[in-house]
Amino acid sequence: MKKLIGLKKTKVAVFISGTGSNLKNLIKFSNKKNSPISINLIISNTKKAKGLKYANQYNIEKKVLNFNNNKINEKKNLDFLIKKETNFICLAGFMKILSKNFIKRFKGKIINIHPSLLPKYKGLNTHERVINNNENISGCSVHYVTGKLDSGKIIMQKKIKISKEDTAISLRKKILKKEHKLYPAAITKIFI
Ligand code: GRF
Repeated sequence: MKKLIGLKKTKVAVFISGTGSNLKNLIKFSNKKNSPISINLIISNTKKAKGLKYANQYNIEKKVLNFNNNKINEKKNLDFLIKKETNFICLAGFMKILSKNFIKRFKGKIINIHPSLLPKYKGLNTHERVINNNENISGCSVHYVTGKLDSGKIIMQKKIKISKEDTAISLRKKILKKEHKLYPAAITKIFI
């Protein structure tokens, strides 16, 4: 990735499907003077995503797009992002799988945050599976998005210890806190 010191901030679209705590955190990060990114678009696959409220709160454009992947939607979505001059995409709790073509168009420019120490526990219900397997350690990972689910190159990870009292719910909370540190750190690593 091109080093961007002294250049314009990279225009980022954040894709969400839910609460959007990572989105909110990334917006705050992007608003810092020395941040390498500016978030100019919030994309969701559902109008029910609670995180869409941050668009109004922080005065950022939002758009609900249809990601039921067929050629027509794919083209519409790509055309929209390109029209908005999107240079980089951060997935943050985005629950749809992007099509191969979509990923190809933004090759090396889509990253995701996942609440496990990848390559362990790809996919859904991560915390439940971690707890059920009596793991001592878990964490979160920021990685590049490729055609294979949660499998692209890892950019950064953060570990946490799991205590005996932890449940899937407490673990989710703990890891989410770490995610909010990790995502900006990984973006900084990419761009600066
Ligand atoms: C996070 O745990 C993230 O790692 C996963 O989905 C969750 C999204 O949480 N991909 P939020 O919507 O950012 O609060």
